[in-house]
Amino acid sequence: MTRVIRSVRTMTAWSLALHREGVVIGVVPTMGALHDGHRSLIRRARLSCDAVVVSLFVNPSQFGPGEDFSRYPRPTRADAALCREEGVDVLFMPSREAVYPQGFQTTVTVRELARRWEGAKRPGHFDGVATVVTKLFGLVRPHVAFFGQKDFQQSVLVRRLVEDLNLGVRIVVCPTVRERDGLALSSRNRYLTPVQRRSAPVLHEALQAGRTAILRGIRFGSQIGRAMRGVIETDPKVTVDYLAVCDPDTLEPLPRVTKSAMLLGAVRLGRVRLIDNLLVRLDGR
Ligand code: PAJ
Repeated sequence: MTRVIRSVRTMTAWSLALHREGVVIGVVPTMGALHDGHRSLIRRARLSCDAVVVSLFVNPSQFGPGEDFSRYPRPTRADAALCREEGVDVLFMPSREAVYPQGFQTTVTVRELARRWEGAKRPGHFDGVATVVTKLFGLVRPHVAFFGQKDFQQSVLVRRLVEDLNLGVRIVVCPTVRERDGLALSSRNRYLTPVQRRSAPVLHEALQAGRTAILRGIRFGSQIGRAMRGVIETDPKVTVDYLAVCDPDTLEPLPRVTKSAMLLGAVRLGRVRLIDNLLVRLDGR
């Protein structure tokens, strides 16, 4: 049975009671419109935790003014059904007022890691993410939290946040789940028209072209970037927000690849924005 909890006080009380019994609690933070990517995080949580909480909160503070907060999909019944199917113990769905009550005035900023890529294209986005994740950890008190590599910059930033603020939550990052044609699953994929959907795998293809270039011996970030961009340019419906070759730990651009490289990409298809990434290792690990 999945218990739905909306009250923040009930959530914390539930968690503290389990803490006293030595139960290991895992949380999967989400904004809902759950798909098989989220499902993989829930399954991973089930494997290593005694109790699993899925939080579902479309966090207004991580959306910019022109972004899709109001039209973000909210299929609550289907989300609850998926949680039941996966044996989730608690589906935590706080209201906006419960998370950001009157008088709320604290923002958590992770400085350097939030500066580039998504942070540059979506000003304020990572302040919203860092603040809500800190809040969720305070409310749910998990031992372990599960994030997807799909949002790689977010996962690196959350690790930093937990360490910097001594939040005492173990962060597990899970592999990206994809459609058969390579498109990374995303709640936003449902915005794509059939024509756009056919173009969407080009982002993954571009990242793969970057990886192939590296594995063939190309080391200059600029050249690898050109290889990726070349693939996107084959499709006039797709425009590049950024394509980057960067250090997987610092997310700084890599002028030359020596050990490993994180290839990050974001593109637009009409009003829809897609992101993806690929890790390339040269160190044999
Ligand atoms: P959301 O986009 O709902 O994603 C929730 C989690 O699912 C994130 O950790 C994300 O990386 C992961 N995820 C999404 N697509 C995935 C895929 N194809 N494969 C594997 N994992 C995938 O990310 C957020 O919500 C929010 O920013 C949040 C962390 C909940 C804070 O509001």
